[in-house]
Amino acid sequence: MTLLLALLALLACKDAAPPPDSEADDTAPVVDTEAPDPRPWFANPAEAEDLDPAEGVVRVALTAATHWQEVVDPLTGDAVSFQGYAYNGQTPGPTLRAKLGDTLIVEFTNDLTAATTIHWHGLAVPYEMDGVTWTLDPVEPGETFTYTLPLTRAGTFWYHPHLNTDQQVDNGLYGVLIVEDPADPPVDRELVMVLDDWAEPEVALPPHGADSDDHGVDGAEGLWAVNGLVSPRVAVEGGEVVRVRLLNAANGGYVDLGWDGGVRQIAGDQGLLPGLATGERVVLAPGDRVDVEWLPGEAGFEVLDHPYAHSGGPAVGEPRALMAVEVDPPAAPAGAPAWPFPADETPDDPGYTDHTYVFTGELEGPWLINGEAFPDVTVAQLPLGEPSILEVRNLSASEHPFHLHGMHFDVLSINGEPPLYPMLEDTFNLGIRDALRVRVVPEYPGFWMLHCHILPHADGGMMTVVEVSE
Ligand code: C2O
Ligand code: CU
Repeated sequence: MTLLLALLALLACKDAAPPPDSEADDTAPVVDTEAPDPRPWFANPAEAEDLDPAEGVVRVALTAATHWQEVVDPLTGDAVSFQGYAYNGQTPGPTLRAKLGDTLIVEFTNDLTAATTIHWHGLAVPYEMDGVTWTLDPVEPGETFTYTLPLTRAGTFWYHPHLNTDQQVDNGLYGVLIVEDPADPPVDRELVMVLDDWAEPEVALPPHGADSDDHGVDGAEGLWAVNGLVSPRVAVEGGEVVRVRLLNAANGGYVDLGWDGGVRQIAGDQGLLPGLATGERVVLAPGDRVDVEWLPGEAGFEVLDHPYAHSGGPAVGEPRALMAVEVDPPAAPAGAPAWPFPADETPDDPGYTDHTYVFTGELEGPWLINGEAFPDVTVAQLPLGEPSILEVRNLSASEHPFHLHGMHFDVLSINGEPPLYPMLEDTFNLGIRDALRVRVVPEYPGFWMLHCHILPHADGGMMTVVEVSE
């Protein structure tokens, strides 16, 4: 106590100029209060400009081109840099924002030296717009293509290539697509957080069909970044209502997120949930999205990522801080907004199964569905506009985010149990040995990809096709 008082006394005199021959300062602790905090400030990805003044139409231009990627950990100095790809010179690419019922028109130019496409992950769109190359041509280097997309559901979606997907996404081609519902209450702040783990690709560009790497598949390697920033901080005000839209755009890494006060999830893959879902943590598999609300009050907090392995779920180890949230100025927290949660219910399971998909593979692959590797697959038939029941079983040594194009699905059960709340999804993580039953009602004819969203698995064969016809 005496020592502490002495120190305080010493500090109290610090402002006064010491006598010229004083040696007191030599023994005082050196605290450089001027050292700037090295952590960068968080920023939402820049948004694409709407080039069409008409109501009901949002027209944007996207160009894919090579882009020098540089991601630096400000606390350790670790850095990843390589010649990659980007949309409009930024990774994440521009956020596309439109309203429910709008038509989104994307004028796309391919300035890469490789063919590519854009897939609209989570949207049900006409087959010709889905950005796959099953029976459609990709966009060749130097070519353009116009995607016309009806926006029939509100939610947090995303876009990425669907050709050499593992390698092209890994190089930096992805962005968020927000479809706003005008019925949602206004918020004071919206944060768009795109998570990705960065490491240098093993194959330098342009690889022209070379095998892509699968770094970071278990989330253990690489630098996890939020919008390309490692350990950013964001300032929010106490009493604000903050809507946070989160996307895991990593090729294979999972995140298991939590923060002080608990997770208040309001939306999943396909928009608002039927109610507020609260819990300690939320796992985002590759391709997954969640929206959460933050009601900051007196204290800041950290967004923590707990260890999680695709070969077995929650893992041993300390969580890492992905981002720091500073509250300035502090104030009493706001009440929860009145989200217009839909009155969805889990449909009854009719008990029969139209198609069964069994995912298999050892850790070194091959990754198969029903014993087949894409593109040598059996194409199942689904009737347009009528319900089909699919059962998906994971008998492999890895978890797999099950993803279906062109339609969303109601989760009927997981291992025989109905979900905790009605779930409308397009990406659903299958744990090892899990059996998932879903119900789909296809909205468009076409050939729709059904695959794992761990991209090295999908590119390694874990993808099949369902055909929807009248
Ligand atoms: Cu996000 Cu077929 O993919
Ligand atoms: Cu997989």
